[in-house]
Amino acid sequence: MSIHIENLSFAYGDRQILKNISMYIEAGEKIGIIGASGSGKSTLMKLIAGLYSPQNGSIELCGARRPEEIRRNVAMVMQNPMLFPASIKENITCGHFMSDELIWQACEAARMTEWILSLPQKLDSFVGERGSKVSGGQAQRIAIARAIAKAAPVILLDEATSALDDDTAGAVLAALESLTRDKTVVSISHRLETLTGCNRIYRLEGGRLSVCT
Ligand SMILES: Nc1ncnc2c1ncn2[C@@H]1O[C@H](COP(=O)(O)OP(=O)(O)OP(=O)(O)O)[C@@H](O)[C@H]1O
Ligand SMILES: [Mg+2]
Repeated sequence: MSIHIENLSFAYGDRQILKNISMYIEAGEKIGIIGASGSGKSTLMKLIAGLYSPQNGSIELCGARRPEEIRRNVAMVMQNPMLFPASIKENITCGHFMSDELIWQACEAARMTEWILSLPQKLDSFVGERGSKVSGGQAQRIAIARAIAKAAPVILLDEATSALDDDTAGAVLAALESLTRDKTVVSISHRLETLTGCNRIYRLEGGRLSVCT
């Protein structure tokens, strides 16, 4: 499922963040994005995900241009994952029907089976207001399980394993790799080693995108 971005520009108020960005990602490609803090990586990711609308230029994802259509085809792990004040299970399914088998498979890929089984209410445990009853790494793993369970053709990962210890991050990345083999994946990471295996790595700098060589 391809992503075609043409001449995309975006500003917050009068602060121009992205300038004339074009990017062509073919179905099944794995793409990395690097760049300094504040360079606009998360902004670009939110635009690709259909959370913001382009102010200039266009984004076409899986042939769709309308943000609500785009959102259906994208599973995203945001840099600061949002949890609903609901159970772990509801945070993974987002209210869609899913078999327990699928939910546990997603939990296993996100390396949280053991933790959930240790909780008295297991998958029905309440995560608290804004996830206040879970740690940052647990919240991140719930968001990863949610993205895996959504089974969308395009996966966007924004520092998706940044809150995990090295061993857990490695295991989650390996699981993500096998589960996303036939999908289109765009990952943002500060850790270059998490981007090995990418078809291309882009750098965002001064609002412009270039291919790293
Ligand atoms: N909602 C917003 N309103 C106004 N300015 C914003 C908003 N979100 C981000 N910015 C600004 O836009 C710039 C780019 O932010 P963005 O989050 O895209 O950077 P980033 O490359 O993801 O950084 P990091 O590596 O720290 O996550 C920053 O200067 C930031 O302060
Ligand atoms: Mg960011």
